[in-house]
Amino acid sequence: MQQPSTTEQGFQVESFFAERMKNTPRSFIREILKVAVSEEIISFAGGLPNPEIFPMEAIREAAVRVLGQRGREALQYSNSEGYLPLRRYISHWYHENAGMEVSPEDILITSGSQQGLDLIGKVVINPGDRIIIEEPGYLGAIQAFSLYQPQFIPVPLKTTGMDLEVLDRELNSGNPRMMYLIPDFQNPSGISYSREVREQIAERIRGKNILLAEDTPYSDIRFSGERAPGFYPMLPEQTILLGTFSKTVVPGFRLGWIVARKELMDKLIIAKQAADLHTNIFTQQLLYDYLINNDIKSHIHLISNLYGRQCHAMLEALKTYFPKDVQYTVPKGGMFLWVTLPEGQSSLELFNRALEHKVAFVPGNPFYVDGSKHRSTLRLNFSCSDEATIFEGVRRIAGVLG
Ligand SMILES: Cc1ncc(COP(=O)(O)O)c(C=O)c1O
Repeated sequence: MQQPSTTEQGFQVESFFAERMKNTPRSFIREILKVAVSEEIISFAGGLPNPEIFPMEAIREAAVRVLGQRGREALQYSNSEGYLPLRRYISHWYHENAGMEVSPEDILITSGSQQGLDLIGKVVINPGDRIIIEEPGYLGAIQAFSLYQPQFIPVPLKTTGMDLEVLDRELNSGNPRMMYLIPDFQNPSGISYSREVREQIAERIRGKNILLAEDTPYSDIRFSGERAPGFYPMLPEQTILLGTFSKTVVPGFRLGWIVARKELMDKLIIAKQAADLHTNIFTQQLLYDYLINNDIKSHIHLISNLYGRQCHAMLEALKTYFPKDVQYTVPKGGMFLWVTLPEGQSSLELFNRALEHKVAFVPGNPFYVDGSKHRSTLRLNFSCSDEATIFEGVRRIAGVLG
């Protein structure tokens, strides 16, 4: 058993940690990335957007313009809701690209959508509340919500979205407070919810006392298929919608947003103020300047084409090198796909063998709230490796399959 660390004066650091820290997992992926950073390792473990496609020159020009035109105002404290022109831009984007009416007053700019998840946890979750999440689920949400001590209710994912039979059972037992899902190109599985499953879920929770947190970081990174309607237009009163510029522009600005109706928004703004007063105003203005002076749609097209080619290469490599009894999802967008090994094969053991052959991925375990149970799944990221590297990496994994 691990001994509590005690200083020379007999000071026990652990005794000062709040209850809420006890069950909050460290980011397993960060731990893995530490192992898998070396140059010679082919890594499908990360979840980073491809830096080669960052619009460097356009961002440099925008930074110079913002400082030149807005001067000291660009560096002053600002309001908690976020830079109004940027919120208007997002509102207009929804109107133009998704046929959705979202008022700028219903948009709060956050420090990445990750902060949005934390603020939702702060405002909504009491200890012990039942929160429905996808299985496998987004690690960052599991971590963010864990701090508020919920009881997670995992609902397995099928290739068309949540398993409706299990969902029905959970909805009918013990009043879940919130449901969190990623309808497009889910992290980690790469699956998207079909139109039917979306409608079925909306029908089941409409009017019930349950909030739906709809996370959409990958929705614009589509390389095939048609956009299906989001949950927010179907359930505007009950949905909190999260968005981000991390995958469409750059993640380092840490710029995302939450869409919510007034009563919820009032509380989210209080939580935001308490957390950091406001999101970095310089990057908000910089991003806005970049967006209005560049063709963002063709930039997103470029990203989607690149990831689409890389995803295609990964699927081809899996088809070429992996045995037929290994299953994998076929994403239509986003950055990940999900592999299921034959029952009984451990993806953690495979990870260790793969690392010896200088290739890394994320074993499935951390994506399940019951981390010990499922051991034959893994996540592969395709956004950061070129096609030849993808073939070589998949070939190496295939070589150490049990
Ligand atoms: C599903 C999901 N939500 C939220 C985030 C956080 O994104 P950000 O905080 O950069 O907006 C990520 C990042 O990978 C993600 O995959």
